[in-house]
Amino acid sequence: MNSSIPTAALLQTRHAATPESAQTVLDALLSRQSHWPLNEPAPNPDELAQIFDTAMRAPDHGKLRPWRFVTIRGDARLALGEVLVDTASARSPEDPRTAHAHRSQRALAAPLIIALAAAVERRSNVPEIEQLMAVGAATMNLLNAIHALGYGGFWATGADSYEPAMHAALGFADNEQLLGFLFVGTPQAQSAARPVARPDHAAYVREWLGPANR
Ligand SMILES: Cc1cc2nc3c(=O)[nH]c(=O)nc-3n(C[C@H](O)[C@H](O)[C@H](O)COP(=O)(O)O)c2cc1C
Repeated sequence: MNSSIPTAALLQTRHAATPESAQTVLDALLSRQSHWPLNEPAPNPDELAQIFDTAMRAPDHGKLRPWRFVTIRGDARLALGEVLVDTASARSPEDPRTAHAHRSQRALAAPLIIALAAAVERRSNVPEIEQLMAVGAATMNLLNAIHALGYGGFWATGADSYEPAMHAALGFADNEQLLGFLFVGTPQAQSAARPVARPDHAAYVREWLGPANR
């Protein structure tokens, strides 16, 4: 799979899209799908910088920049695996810790994991839901950029994202809320070759022609 979009094409679409550049972007958006598990390599540092730059283009009411991202790679994934085993053990204290040992493998499902969080500004008059949606929009930009560069991603929460112990282990502050994880790497060939069926958008779109209650 190679769906890289040249930066020039993206810049061009910002100002005056040509049919070709617009189609390149649309093809990338329309071909994105999740992949699990993910192999090496992960995006290199320059690519990762570009990927995070796309998150900074997410719509953001009040310019609060509520998104927070924490990268986890290399041996840090082994430490994350231990935290996953710890949190599972704490959920089921009646089981021996060894019963949850397999959960450490989840941290090795991709060469790069990005913890996703929101720093919700409670004194703002921008409602919390809008701040959380801005983080969701930023995360979607990450997924699309990852795909555009020819990599794959998977957005997952699972029970662990909501565990106070996970929040603490990742070093988030009290005002930061862990929202999930992006697993990032290179799709396996069989996953890349298996397009996901998508619903017809018509079932989810309607036109409003005036008040329904008149
Ligand atoms: C906020 C959020 C959390 C998710 N958490 C999980 C999860 O924990 N486990 C899972 O299998 N899929 C989860 N998903 C769904 C996958 O990321 C993915 O969208 C789904 O497998 C469909 O694949 P697609 O992206 O190719 O449509 C989550 C999606 C979102 C938006």
